Amino acid sequence: MARITHCIACSHIPVLGYAFDHGKEGEAYFKPAFDGFEWTRRFLADEKPDVIVLVYNDHASAFDMKIIPTFAIGCGDVYHPADEGFGARPVPPVEGHADLAWHIAQSLILDEFDMTIINEMEVDHGLTVPLSMMYGHVDTWPVRVIPLAVNVVTYPPPSGNRCWALDEAIARAVASFPEDLKVQVWGTGGMSHQLQGPRAGLINRAWDNRFLGRLTGDTQELRHIPHIEYLRETGSEGIEMVMWLIMRGALGTRTRALHRHYHVPVSNTALGHLVLEPVDGTIPPGPTPAGNDATAQAPI
Ligand code: DHB
Ligand code: FE
Repeated sequence: MARITHCIACSHIPVLGYAFDHGKEGEAYFKPAFDGFEWTRRFLADEKPDVIVLVYNDHASAFDMKIIPTFAIGCGDVYHPADEGFGARPVPPVEGHADLAWHIAQSLILDEFDMTIINEMEVDHGLTVPLSMMYGHVDTWPVRVIPLAVNVVTYPPPSGNRCWALDEAIARAVASFPEDLKVQVWGTGGMSHQLQGPRAGLINRAWDNRFLGRLTGDTQELRHIPHIEYLRETGSEGIEMVMWLIMRGALGTRTRALHRHYHVPVSNTALGHLVLEPVDGTIPPGPTPAGNDATAQAPI
């Protein structure tokens, strides 16, 4: 049986991808940001997850104003890094896990989350920067990745509560996959940042650290933060943090933080990073309307 062993959150700041690709990780400005990932690199080298469900947002690389899926799941075999204006990042292609991805897609849709299914797309810094921070310089990524893209770019993004509930459904989907796989869910983006307008450069350390704190333990308060609070307190791009809730929900009632890192500033952005494990290992129960039991229904 597949199981979600840990969940990881991490900002996906593009300049860290630039620093990583140009050998600047040791420079004084970047070093404190990268140093906070050393613990996690050792942890992942020991832990060796098989698959990551990597929650991120596309920044007008694969999608644009023509198509704006709220939740999209990558069911393909491979995803190449996107050219975001300066050529594609020189990192390996990302290998998918089509069998598990299709299983999750089926389970989520029968669980009444109407996912968009993506078979081909390129992936931008939202997905590749966290992989670089976590795995360093590699010839091939030592893990399969199921991209899960969330619209946080064009209003309206999904609510925090919906994001949390989606992750509870992902936990049920993974638990009903028969192969013995260690799966992690990563939530990316944030923390407080605003890239444009009169409030550009806004950082809110106190709010960010309260958010990090409330991802641990058994509180479910974060489900109910309204969009306007993210905008007011964390800037226009702080809304990316709803994607961190699609990493908390899978962990059940109580979590423990194994590692926490916060550094300001990187670019215009507050960098946050958290490694969580479940304390009681419960699979969050969900509504299973009659006839739509994803675990009981054979594929069509
Ligand atoms: C920046 C862009 C992002 O997408 C993000 O999440 C954080 C920072 C930037 O351009 O600095
Ligand atoms: Fe972003």
